[in-house]
Amino acid sequence: MNVYDGQRIAAMLEKHDFEQTDKIEEADIIILNTCAVREKATNKVFSALGRVRRAKKPDALFGIVGCVAREAGATAFQRIPDLNFVLGPQSYHKLPEILKNPETKLLNIDLTGLEKFDELPRMEKSPAVAYIPIQEGCNHCCTYCIVPYTRGRELSRPFKEVLHDTKHAANTGAIEICFLGQNVNGYKYTDEAKGKTYRLSDLIKETAKLNNIKRIRFTSSYPTEMTDDLIDMFRTEPKLLPFLNMPIQSGSQNVLTRMNRPYTLNLYIDIVDKLKSARPDIQISSDFIVGFPGETDSDFEQTMEIAKRIKYINSYSFKYSPRPHTAAALMKDQIPESIKAERLAKLDSYLNELQRSFNESCIGKTMECLCEGPDKTGKHLVYRTPYMQQCIVNATSPNCEKQLANIRITAANKASLRGEIVD
Ligand code: 5AD
Ligand code: SF4
Repeated sequence: MNVYDGQRIAAMLEKHDFEQTDKIEEADIIILNTCAVREKATNKVFSALGRVRRAKKPDALFGIVGCVAREAGATAFQRIPDLNFVLGPQSYHKLPEILKNPETKLLNIDLTGLEKFDELPRMEKSPAVAYIPIQEGCNHCCTYCIVPYTRGRELSRPFKEVLHDTKHAANTGAIEICFLGQNVNGYKYTDEAKGKTYRLSDLIKETAKLNNIKRIRFTSSYPTEMTDDLIDMFRTEPKLLPFLNMPIQSGSQNVLTRMNRPYTLNLYIDIVDKLKSARPDIQISSDFIVGFPGETDSDFEQTMEIAKRIKYINSYSFKYSPRPHTAAALMKDQIPESIKAERLAKLDSYLNELQRSFNESCIGKTMECLCEGPDKTGKHLVYRTPYMQQCIVNATSPNCEKQLANIRITAANKASLRGEIVD
């Protein structure tokens, strides 16, 4: 979501005749687009702001947008008095106000709904992978999560508008569409005039009709919103990639209950089984939180067991961090840092092992991959497989200018694959 927000902000500033630079000392405006999901990310923002403040031109404007802006609000100006603007994730379209009145301090952390999507200019040229937000906010209220506070209640964008964005992306260079939302598979839009309710499966069906679009995916999914119509898409729609991020967070039923994630492990496993029968080559990725308040050794072992059972690939794991405005921050039995760190190391090492073994199982296979461009050395091209693995190809390969190419995997390690283009 932040990548997308960043692209829209860049497009907006280009309309105001700004150009992008990666040199802070040359910039006329510096914007930190921020994430508040974990404490570490929030702390980083304020230390980065300190660095920007010292490096920037004296008259350059600087500020923060996104979830940390919403979380910190006016206190951000107390912490960094010469900050020029603080704009929440639903009000960054107000940025031009600071260009008109650079002497003022601009604070807007309102949850204005989906207004920003209408107000911001579209990108003229789409990147090969177009991120299209379809819903924002979340109604799930997991007890550890700040998102319902920073991004507000769940809102789905009108079906027609999303398709309009998708078609525009397809006509201006997109090959892959990635639908985005904090709870993307909860997408639900009712067109009152037609008396029809549209779901994510409808968006996938319509998008798959666009010739230029070859790959479709979506992230991030809530397990119990994985409805049969959506599971069926994996059976019937070959453009939908066989890879799904569906966070379980914990393998312990007790912890899930205290996280306010009211699904049973059996239900989660049933959903995975249904997905596998719809698309036998599907792979699942998850997010995990270790060290949630009250998590026992046995709870943690159950998380290790579920990872083993599902054989997740490409997953993320985090140490629980207490966030403001969340119920879990007030729970007793907060887990000591040292235990969180120990559990995280153990889970990470197992997830890496799973990733390595999946990567190795790909050797000898040919997969259609999307080119992301050259690596830093300029000697290789970086591709993405349908499972979002990175695959490195010698840039001298024939046909390397093709954005989508069939690549035979020749080697693998934990982090990436190597391959060669086949015709
Ligand atoms: N502490 C640690 N991890 C968190 N996440 C969300 N809130 C917290 C928190 N308070 C993780 C979840 C979520 C991902 C985006 O961030 O795993 O899926
Ligand atoms: Fe946060 Fe995701 Fe839970 Fe929503 S479903 S509250 S975004 S962790």
